[in-house]
Amino acid sequence: MIIKALDSLGGLLFGREKYRRGHYKLAKRLAARQRYEVYKPHLIWLTDPEFIAARDMAEQRGIEGSPYDRCFTLMTSARMVRNIPGNFAECGVRYGKSSLFLLTGAGAQSTKRLHIFDSFQGLSEPSDADVQSGGKSEWSKGDLAVPQDIVRQNLSAFGDRVDLHKGWIPDRFNDVADQEFSLVHVDVDLYEPTLASVEFFYPRVKPGGVIICDDYGSGDCPGAKKAIDEFFADKPENVLSLTSGQSIVIKA
Ligand SMILES: C[S@@+](CC[C@H](N)C(=O)[O-])C[C@H]1O[C@@H](n2cnc3c(N)ncnc32)[C@H](O)[C@@H]1O
Repeated sequence: MIIKALDSLGGLLFGREKYRRGHYKLAKRLAARQRYEVYKPHLIWLTDPEFIAARDMAEQRGIEGSPYDRCFTLMTSARMVRNIPGNFAECGVRYGKSSLFLLTGAGAQSTKRLHIFDSFQGLSEPSDADVQSGGKSEWSKGDLAVPQDIVRQNLSAFGDRVDLHKGWIPDRFNDVADQEFSLVHVDVDLYEPTLASVEFFYPRVKPGGVIICDDYGSGDCPGAKKAIDEFFADKPENVLSLTSGQSIVIKA
């Protein structure tokens, strides 16, 4: 309340844009002291109209999840594969924030369906591969659980373009065994379900399609990187590691 009032006053006194830039400079200076990075305000992804509309929808509906730089990667990847045949798949949905950006990127007229695979009971049991260098795992079984009905409601704006497959990965993958895919988003945090996801979907992704792993560059998710590196070690594609923490593979 007080901060909102200060923002309005600052905008009136200095002009809205100058006031915003002042915030950026302050944030940048504070971040630099701890060697963090702050995105520059003139980057065009921050002003992309579809991105802004999707962000507004997520915020109005109170949908939490992936940070917005990752959401933009998903949206722009979905745009990139608009002309590649095949549906979308997402392994690990939580509240549906990443799904919202995938569906937005596909385009309002798209006939591509998004097949979502999730336990809706949170994470499975972490394995030894999910233990960080300090000897502990960030995760426990059941973390990040969100009920299926909430996800259905959060994604209701996309009508019947979404199919929810409830179960432990890979139990429900057979539901789509005969389908082709142009985009697969893997965001399950752990080694075993990440490996099972890429093993199943890789042969079903069309050339030019993409496989994105949300957790590849996250220090909290060492098992996800291990699964991706192991799987692609003998494949013709290379793994592109992004500053957002995601990885992308474009199918050859
Ligand atoms: C990090 S969250 C996904 C976040 C979401 N993609 C977003 O960006 O908002 C991880 C999700 O993976 C699901 N999950 C983790 N392990 C699983 C498994 N073995 N089988 C099925 N779902 C799993 C959890 O229920 C949770 O919804």
